[in-house]
Amino acid sequence: MALKTSVGEPTPAELETEAARLADKGLSGLGYRDEELERAARLTWKINRLKKAQRAVIPAHVYQRPEILLGVADFIGDSYKLAKLGAASDAERIIFCGVRFMAETAKILSPDKEVLLPAPEAGCSLSESITAADVRALKKKHPGAPVAVYINTTVAVKAECDVVVTSANAPKIMRKLYAEHEKVIFAPDAMMGRNLAKELGKTIGKDLIIWEGTCIVHDNFDAASVEFYRKMYPGVKILAHFECTPALTSVVDYIGGTGDMMKWVDDHKASSYMLITECGLGDLARTEFPDKVFVPMCRLCPHMKAVTLERVLSALERPTASQRIEVPEAVAARALRPIARMFELSEDNSPS
Ligand code: 13P
Ligand code: SF4
Repeated sequence: MALKTSVGEPTPAELETEAARLADKGLSGLGYRDEELERAARLTWKINRLKKAQRAVIPAHVYQRPEILLGVADFIGDSYKLAKLGAASDAERIIFCGVRFMAETAKILSPDKEVLLPAPEAGCSLSESITAADVRALKKKHPGAPVAVYINTTVAVKAECDVVVTSANAPKIMRKLYAEHEKVIFAPDAMMGRNLAKELGKTIGKDLIIWEGTCIVHDNFDAASVEFYRKMYPGVKILAHFECTPALTSVVDYIGGTGDMMKWVDDHKASSYMLITECGLGDLARTEFPDKVFVPMCRLCPHMKAVTLERVLSALERPTASQRIEVPEAVAARALRPIARMFELSEDNSPS
């Protein structure tokens, strides 16, 4: 049966109902005005109908625009949750609202599904910082040391590694690797590598070999301003992403990935919270915890924000070749092994 690619236009009454739904979901609380709600509603109305007709699913990373998260996403999460839920979904098409390495991971885990990335140019500074040849050179220089690689990498890089990690499981998986090895290679996020060295009591260059990649969003938040904010907002709890510098992570109340930061906020009662990461997490936190106060300190990721409702609709109506994610079978098979190992080690709760 031919794929349905058009659902027509909403009637004025349908448009009004959809705009009200978006307002209730939390867009009003985030400052969307009537005309912005109407613009978003025209698109979400079509996207949700087409998605259903095409048996498509929309996973969205927490850094996506609020109108995507609250208007069309089927599941929202950090990199680990998206990889896990994407693999479990029985949809025929995945319209991935995130960046390329995430969509590629979804394709590797679901090779029979069509995976579309609405913004095909959405990359990641970490992913672009290292090549497969770089990993091979590291392995040659440190023979026998297992390579743990952050999920923010290309398929070719993953294919050279022993285990993939995300911000949700890196310390746990690294501990398991150290139970069997004296030296471990971790790439490509140097900030996360330094934060891990501190947490695990390892020495960089001796028992932990790192790569000098950084995230353009997290690598230069100002650590000195933390003291100023603590005076300005007495009792504020400050949380920072694992990809931030050690100068910053050493003066905050909690370090973690986006999923763990949200959980920490849920589990604690404080006068206010500051989430030092991409701005999308703060928007989501404001809608999920309407009774809590969030002090802004964030930066936008140009890659994550390249995804718009217009581009999601275009991927459903007339996907282009560049939006379609293709991963050659041989490299996908090699990259699947370290991803499968991540699931295994991450879910293993036996003592390391
Ligand atoms: P997590 O949501 O997995 O913490 O990742 C953050 C990030 O920068 C993704 O690109
Ligand atoms: Fe990459 Fe940083 Fe953007 Fe995440 S926030 S996609 S790590 S550049």
